[in-house]
Parts: sequence; C-alpha cells; structure tokens
Amino acid sequence: MNDTATPSGMGSLGHNSAGFPVDWSTDAIVERRNRYYAASQRAFVPYKTPLIFNHGQGQYLWDEKGNKYLDCLSQNLTISVGYNHPVMNQAVIEQLQAIQHATAMFYHPVPAHFAEELVATMPAGEEWVVHFTNSGAEAIDLALMMARTYTGNVDVISLHNSYHGATFGAQSVTGVSGFRHNVPLPGGVRFVPNPDQYRGDFGSGVDPYLMALDRTIQCETPGRLAGLILEPIQGYGGIVPLPVGYLSGAFDRIRAAGGVCIVDEVQAGFARTGENYWSFEYHDVMPDIVVMAKGIGNGLPLAAVVAKREVAESMAEKFLFHTYGGNPVACAAGRAVLRIIEEEGLQENARKVGAELLGVLQDLQKSHEIIGDVRGRGLMMAVELVRDRETREPAAEDLATLFEFTREEGLVMSKSGTYRNVLRMCPPLCIQMEDVDFFASALGKAFDRLAGTRA
Ligand SMILES: Cc1ncc(COP(=O)(O)O)c(C=O)c1O
Repeated sequence: MNDTATPSGMGSLGHNSAGFPVDWSTDAIVERRNRYYAASQRAFVPYKTPLIFNHGQGQYLWDEKGNKYLDCLSQNLTISVGYNHPVMNQAVIEQLQAIQHATAMFYHPVPAHFAEELVATMPAGEEWVVHFTNSGAEAIDLALMMARTYTGNVDVISLHNSYHGATFGAQSVTGVSGFRHNVPLPGGVRFVPNPDQYRGDFGSGVDPYLMALDRTIQCETPGRLAGLILEPIQGYGGIVPLPVGYLSGAFDRIRAAGGVCIVDEVQAGFARTGENYWSFEYHDVMPDIVVMAKGIGNGLPLAAVVAKREVAESMAEKFLFHTYGGNPVACAAGRAVLRIIEEEGLQENARKVGAELLGVLQDLQKSHEIIGDVRGRGLMMAVELVRDRETREPAAEDLATLFEFTREEGLVMSKSGTYRNVLRMCPPLCIQMEDVDFFASALGKAFDRLAGTRA
C-alpha cells in the first residue's frame, strides 16, 4: 500500500519531545531487542524478517520505512475501535494528567462507572459484578479460582485446540501443546474434543462431541465438576466457531454435575462477531462467568472477569488483589471503547463489512484449490490451507509462504491453528467498506503468487 504519511522520527536517531533518544533505524531496533529481550519474549516472531510499526491511524499501520498496511490482526485483537482515536486519546490523557493510578483499595469513580457500563452490555435478567485484572490470562486464573471456590469442586473441562493464556493457570486449560510449557501445570483439568466442523475428531455435527463430554465426565472425573471453560469461537486455534447446540448441550451437562460455565470472550467479545455483542449470545446460552480482555482497552492493559453475583460472592472471605486491577487510565480507555462502539455503530459495521470480507474469501476459494475451508463471523475470519481437499492434509509450508506475500502486498494477518495452516483475519472494528477492494486485490495477488510457486 503506498502512502505518503510521514512516521514520526523515522529513519533517524532522534529524540522524542520529552528528550528521550529513540533510534528508528531497523538494525538498531533489531539489535537492541535481540540483545536485551529474554528468549521467552524474543521467540514469537511471525515473519522471516522483523516487522516494525511506527504508527497507526484507524485501521491502518505504517512501518518504520513508511510502508502502509491494512491491519487485519489488530495487534492480536486488542485494537477494537482503531488507532489514534480522538475520543479515546482525550479520555486517556485527561485521566493520566489527573492521576495515573489509584489501586482498588481506594475508591475512584472511573473504574466504578466502567464496571456499571460493562455490566450494562451483559444480558439482562442476571445480577453481574466485575473484577478488573491486567491481562486475559490473569482473568482466566481468577475465573478458574472462582469456579472452584463457588462449587467446592476441582475438575474443570476444557476443549482441545483452545488457547486461554500464558500463566500457569491459563496454560493448564490451554489445549494446544505448542502453548503448553514443559513444567508442572495445575491439575484437575480434562480435555474433550472440540466440535470443529471441518476437521474435528468426529467430523461435523454436535452429538458425538456431547457424547464424548458425557464419557469424560463419567470416566475421568469424580462426577462433580467445578466447571467448563470454552471460547465460542476458538481464536488462536484457527477461528473455529463452535456449532449451535454444542454450548447449550455442554452447559446442561456441566450444570448437572454441579459445575459453572465459563466463557472466554477475550478474542470474540466486544461486538467483533457483528450479530452479537458477546459471541456466546449467538448460542442462546447464559454463562456464569465471562472473561474479557484484549479489545476491552483498545490496546491498553486491561481485562475483566464478569460473573453472576452469587458466584463471585463465594470469594468474599479472602482478599485477592491485583495491583493494577481497575487502573483508572485503562478504565478510561475501556469506557471510551464502549462509547465508540455504540456511537459509531461498530457492531453493525463488523456485521456488514465482515460479511463482505467473507464473500471475498469465498470467491477466492472458488479459484484456489488450496483453500480447504473458509469460515468466520463478523470481523473474525480465516481460511484454512490444505494440500488436498479430500484428505484435508494441512498445507503449513504454503501458508508460511502465503503469509510473507500478504505482508508484501500490504496486509497484516496471522498464522494460526494447531497445524499452522490457517490464515487468521481480525481487523479493527472500524474497517470500512472502502477497504474491501484493497483487501480483495491484495489477498488475491498473494494467492496468485502462491499459485505461481506451486506451478
Ligand atoms: C481466547 C484467549 N483467552 C485468553 C488470552 C490471554 O490473554 P492475555 O494475553 O491478555 O493474557 C488470550 C490471548 O491471546 C486469548 O486469545
């Protein structure tokens, strides 16, 4: 994508306006990061060569050399309402200047307002309460703790192919070996096959997966459960939407065994799926605990557990403190996110533009045999590459090649899925209809180039 916008301080060893030296030369950035980052943080590099962003505006990004990209990843789905949004900037700057932090042991109106406003987005008929944390994984840990405290049971059921975060607790319910470290993780977790309608263990349908859940409860647990945790659309697992009927059937079974139902809305929440504000609403179910993060703060570190009061109340006995939980600057950002989604009609935008983008992917599938599956809802989409549409053998190497081409064509996307053969697309909610043509032509070129390498 060509554009003449000038990134700040680009191409020079300069100083920012506060006088801090900032070296924007590519080599210096890479060298500093490689030298000073620990391997655990350094290891996650998607492209063959580093991609360095200098600034963003709306749904667009510019790298340090001035190249423009259409962002179809939203910094791992954190950028919900777009980069450099004036309402968000104003809310954050104002709060920063007033007081940058007030811990939850002191009272402050901003987190309290935000809790009220967040609760207002939840389905009516339940009394919801909020516990703010700093990251999704921390919120997952808390949700697991809450489920176990409330029920007095230990066993939690999670799904194959799920991702819930990097802490010990969140890894314990993460069902992809690539995200699980070789350390003793907390026990009491059983995994069941995820009802992936394209490549699930039992093919398409819901019943075999519910039967597998029954069997796991009967054979691998004491029959009493703390709960179930799932993503209604598995995110890092490769945008795998769970079929209608699964959540309701699973919730019944978990509740019959004394457990509570935890929904992880970290990727799919905050209007991203278009038809619904929360992706669980599509399934006509009522969770007991909902975990939110990422899009909640439009890039600021913020997350929350929203739970039925009765469930959350079980933890009143013992104090649980997150130093930054409910930070007023992050909560000011959270309030701005809710307002911008509402005022700019971003849920409807996600529905409409998402449908167009999905149409582009479906058209591409017609002319590119390598696309085995196209799926998604709203602004959460993916294509899955296969070597053969019959055998569905994953085409991970081709995906890696395609992925580099998408970058060269001006698109930022993500490689996902257990077999690393899924191209995941989740643009900011403010992506416009006018972006669809560029998306179609850039992705089309990337696929044509891939076809050229295979000819
Ligand atoms: C579905 C889901 N749950 C939980 C998390 C953990 O969130 P965080 O990285 O903020 O700890 C992630 C992060 O990618 C996620 O995708």
